[in-house]
Amino acid sequence: MAVATVEEIQPIMLAKEQPNFVLTPEVKDKVQRAALYMQARYPVHFSGPAGTGKSTLAMYTAAQLGQPVVLIHGEEEFSASDLVGGEFGFRRKKVIDNFIHSVMKTEEEVSARWIDSRLTVACKHGFTLLYDEFTRSRPQANNVLLSVLEEHILDLPSARSTEGYMKVHPNFAAIFTSNPVEYAGAYRAQDALIDRMITIKLDHYDRQTEIQITMVKSGVSREEAETIVDIVRSLRKAKSDHTTPTVRAAVMLGKVVKLSGIKPGSKDGDFTKFALDILDSEISTSMQQKNGELQAMIRGVLKEVC
Ligand SMILES: Nc1ncnc2c1ncn2[C@@H]1O[C@H](COP(=O)(O)OP(=O)(O)O)[C@@H](O)[C@H]1O
Ligand SMILES: [Mg+2]
Repeated sequence: MAVATVEEIQPIMLAKEQPNFVLTPEVKDKVQRAALYMQARYPVHFSGPAGTGKSTLAMYTAAQLGQPVVLIHGEEEFSASDLVGGEFGFRRKKVIDNFIHSVMKTEEEVSARWIDSRLTVACKHGFTLLYDEFTRSRPQANNVLLSVLEEHILDLPSARSTEGYMKVHPNFAAIFTSNPVEYAGAYRAQDALIDRMITIKLDHYDRQTEIQITMVKSGVSREEAETIVDIVRSLRKAKSDHTTPTVRAAVMLGKVVKLSGIKPGSKDGDFTKFALDILDSEISTSMQQKNGELQAMIRGVLKEVC
């Protein structure tokens, strides 16, 4: 019996209206497809390399369903009990008064008792499960999802249920994200699990969407965002794997440009330094290349674009 402090799982409500969410025709198309599949009661799976908008699209899709969301982030260390629940010897209940902030009541109980984990909570109440980066968890930990998705039944240990299972609430919905298998730290998901979801494969957004995201997230002008995005896209194209730099680097560069008041351009020494720091650090994680080569490549792209 594990002795641990466990807080009961609380779902979150995501706002349907998200002013910073960019809805270009490309994004709208993906969001509409996802909504249709969810309406047909299929789990949706956003799959793609880092920085292609998986988590953001998953959150937005979850928000549009308008019901509470339970979030899970896949982890190597996860076991089935992290998804379903387990017996704990110590339970703490915290009551925080929303109106009188000084009121905080804590009840403690020391006895072996079952605590439902995220998947069980979502199945029981009919919440939306958002399982981000689910292939970071070992396939064995995710096995419990098979019957949930196929038969709408959650298998439970006898400590939780005398029947050994729970019928999944009809409102239960599931959204997954993952990086393709070739990425470090990802396991190959069971085919049986993938077969039960509809996978929307993502790649880097189109130029217009990347420009919009850079503007919205950093506050730079359209012209500045265009230059920054063109630098990022040219560099991505020039690299053999085409995976980095991502739109994240464009947003970072945008924020630094905005704060410093420096215009993007290869003739500005400071801008070149910012670009080298930001682009190099995002690329180096995915590229085994000598430092000098990388910097030369970035300088080359800067000269070409601005
Ligand atoms: N539709 C969108 N609107 C606004 N920002 C977005 C949108 N899609 C992605 N982003 C931004 O792009 C970056 C990468 O997206 P993210 O969802 O984290 O990618 P992933 O999960 O694939 O690594 C984040 O900074 C995110 O805020
Ligand atoms: Mg993500």
